[in-house]
Amino acid sequence: MNSHSFPATRYPLIQAPMAGAQGSALALAVCRAGGIGSLPCAMLSPEALRQELDLLQAQASGPYNVNFFCHTPPASEPAREAAWLERLAPFYAEMGLTPPTGPATAARAPFSAALAEMLEAYRPPIVSFHFGLPEPALLERVKSWGSQVWSSATTVEEARWLEAQGVDAIIAQGLEAGGHRGHFLSPDLTLQMGTFALLPQIVHAVGVPVIAAGGMADAAGVRAALALGASAVQVGTAFLLCDEAQTSALHRRALTSPQARHTALTNVFTGRPARGIANRLMKELDYLCPQAPAFPLATSGMAALRAHAEAAGSADFTPLWSGQNNQGCRAAPAAEVVAALMAS
Ligand SMILES: Cc1cc2nc3c(=O)[nH]c(=O)nc-3n(C[C@H](O)[C@H](O)[C@H](O)COP(=O)(O)O)c2cc1C
Repeated sequence: MNSHSFPATRYPLIQAPMAGAQGSALALAVCRAGGIGSLPCAMLSPEALRQELDLLQAQASGPYNVNFFCHTPPASEPAREAAWLERLAPFYAEMGLTPPTGPATAARAPFSAALAEMLEAYRPPIVSFHFGLPEPALLERVKSWGSQVWSSATTVEEARWLEAQGVDAIIAQGLEAGGHRGHFLSPDLTLQMGTFALLPQIVHAVGVPVIAAGGMADAAGVRAALALGASAVQVGTAFLLCDEAQTSALHRRALTSPQARHTALTNVFTGRPARGIANRLMKELDYLCPQAPAFPLATSGMAALRAHAEAAGSADFTPLWSGQNNQGCRAAPAAEVVAALMAS
């Protein structure tokens, strides 16, 4: 694939990688329907990743994208972890559970030399990153085998930085988007703009193709993004109810309930701000909780609360990632969502 030429597909549509909510089945269905399917790799074990890559390589009918996080693993902060468990203590008491002991553990690993080693055998057409880019030597390695490299920008500054590092396309992620913010130059959330404010400014600032992400839920939204200069759109939330997605029953129920109207940014599930449907844990910890350990260390402290509540059929402690516009979700094959988004 030529650098900076956008991959040729029937539709300028990328199904957003959604860690924890989908695997190769959704990606393959979107590829078959004429878009670009994505495999989120951040939460996969090496064995699971290899299996998924085998499936994509054997069955993808067009270009596909594999997606990794590239955060810097945080140092352990015992005082903050203790403060976090103290903040969660009333919930543990309420459920009659003993809070965890020992240091917090990480459930999401960043891109690494070992992952690059595995990926090289597959040479996926596109490798996208969230939270910046891997170190230059690793980035060069990915580019050396011909994969296009994409990454998310939440500000014009991040877009310029990514272009200077040689990415092939920039995903302009607006404030509306579901899941984790892709920011990496500054943690200041007030810097992130809505998609339709951010997109034209990034298009104006860089020379590489720009992909619009956040808030697109129907064909009119897609057309608006393309009219504002996007080379393609990346849509996540609208695919969450698809037959091929792995979205949990509790998550599906929340997405189809009136509760879905209220989404907010929160750091209480992972330590990094992400948009999800507002639930009890988010509200009672004021959405952005200063005691939450750095990404991804907040997860292990509340895992037992989540498991206990889920076993009782409650999503009060479950991350219910969703964008602000969840009106495009359909409990249907992914091909129907693709057709609805691309209807003329
Ligand atoms: C459930 C869910 C999980 C997500 N996980 C990832 C991920 O693993 N990697 C990534 O780059 N983006 C992830 N995102 C963000 C998407 O790439 C994209 O920015 C977002 O879905 C676009 O906005 P929309 O949800 O309004 O369509 C996730 C989004 C959702 C809704």
